[in-house]
Amino acid sequence: MEKTIDESVQGSALSLEKKNTNSRKLYIESYGCQMNFSDSEIVASILSNEGFNTTQELKEADLVLVNTCSIREKAELTVRKRLEKFNAIKKDRPHMKVGVLGCMAERLKHKFLEEEKIVDMVVGPDAYKDLPNLIQEIDEGRNAVNVILSKDETYGDVAPVRLNSNGVTAFVSITRGCDNMCTFCVVPFTRGRERSRDPQSIVDEVNDLWEKGYREVTLLGQNVDSYLWYGGGLKKDFAKASEMQKATAVDFAQLLEKVALAQPRMRIRFSTSNPQDMTLDVIRTMAKYENICNYIHLPVQSGSNRILKAMNRLHTREEYFELIDNIKAIIPDCAISQDMITGFPTETEQDHQDTLSLMEYVKYDYGFMFAYSERPGTLAERKLTDDVPAEVKKRRLAEIIELQRRHCQERTEQHLGKVQEVLIEGTSKKSEEHWMGRNSQNTVAVFPKENYKVGDFVMVRMDDCTSATLIGKAVGYSDNNV
Ligand code: SAH
Ligand code: F3S
Repeated sequence: MEKTIDESVQGSALSLEKKNTNSRKLYIESYGCQMNFSDSEIVASILSNEGFNTTQELKEADLVLVNTCSIREKAELTVRKRLEKFNAIKKDRPHMKVGVLGCMAERLKHKFLEEEKIVDMVVGPDAYKDLPNLIQEIDEGRNAVNVILSKDETYGDVAPVRLNSNGVTAFVSITRGCDNMCTFCVVPFTRGRERSRDPQSIVDEVNDLWEKGYREVTLLGQNVDSYLWYGGGLKKDFAKASEMQKATAVDFAQLLEKVALAQPRMRIRFSTSNPQDMTLDVIRTMAKYENICNYIHLPVQSGSNRILKAMNRLHTREEYFELIDNIKAIIPDCAISQDMITGFPTETEQDHQDTLSLMEYVKYDYGFMFAYSERPGTLAERKLTDDVPAEVKKRRLAEIIELQRRHCQERTEQHLGKVQEVLIEGTSKKSEEHWMGRNSQNTVAVFPKENYKVGDFVMVRMDDCTSATLIGKAVGYSDNNV
């Protein structure tokens, strides 16, 4: 049927409008944990439906979003400096809008808009689906804020737009929030109570990633071992679930198995594990499936029982050793890494020695170490005095970093002479002629490119190393290569 003139005019007006709206540019910067980087990909997806394309160029941005971190004071100061810079740019580009997302948005809420007036929009981690409305508000000249925490939001139905991706490795978020209430930690306040994402939507996302050429996923959560799907809702409400829901619930070991079976060639990693929640089932599932990598990030925070208790970490040093022994018995070549805090309130020299001796026992492959930073609103801030002097925190931190460096070197050397599978992620930072990838234990390996390409699974002979990088030579494709 022939179109009437009216219809065709309307049609072209519509496509013109769509083209105009599609030309808006979003510049997004992320700070803090992997979860924040993953959330930014959800935000980019929600906004692409609103006609925003992402850009890497700040100077062409119509909307600048900063996904922020509150974990330590320093993280907040870094973000503040960036916000001041964006505010200065706005003087020359008044149409540019600035929004703050994530944990600082949640923690400081209206303060940004009312007292400081350096941003146009404040959006907490559970409110990203409200972004279309909030953007309309700021387009109409009003400030916008939504920091409501949710009981069931997991963004399971949002397909993330991959940002700064190497096209090979991707994050897949599986839980949100945290119920643990470690006394030093701000996360339960900024990200709310723990809830798990529908396993089917996780498997669908992993399948889709495989189709698009991705070869490794990291399942993300503040405490992945505590994953429990029973049909929606908060983890703490599981006791109230129906018998049917309880009978069909999926825990983390079962989720790992589902993902491993769905894509038997996809490498699977996960982060972060909390010692108090990691089960033997999870370790056995790791051992059972070749494609689940032999690496566990298992933060301990301190080696002293007294400090662990004050931190509300619900395990002892001895129980932690038992877990480490079980991991090593079931997966002998499993790499383990830590997070450690020095100078928690009341920490004595003896507590610090306990941390060093715990590290000697485990000999971690890698570590992330921090000086205690008091966070407003946490239990430690309310109940304890931040009484370890800054220079003592600094000296103890330097000592654990030095010990970790030695262990890292020893662990890296253990791979020498072996032929291991490496997934190629991209060109080495130090040499155009070398590829960079990781072995199952997450150790970085570099080797001459030859005819291999990004995304290949390659067998690499490890000939040499620095303290944290293996230097090798490819000897052929892995059986896993596609
Ligand atoms: N379960 C989370 C932990 C998030 S915080 C995860 O997925 O990694 C990451 C690390 O920051 C913690 O393990 C802890 O070592 C450190 N950290 C948290 N709060 C801190 C504080 N107040 N001061 C110093 N370090 C802190
Ligand atoms: Fe923080 Fe402890 Fe949860 S470190 S994120 S409260 S497991």
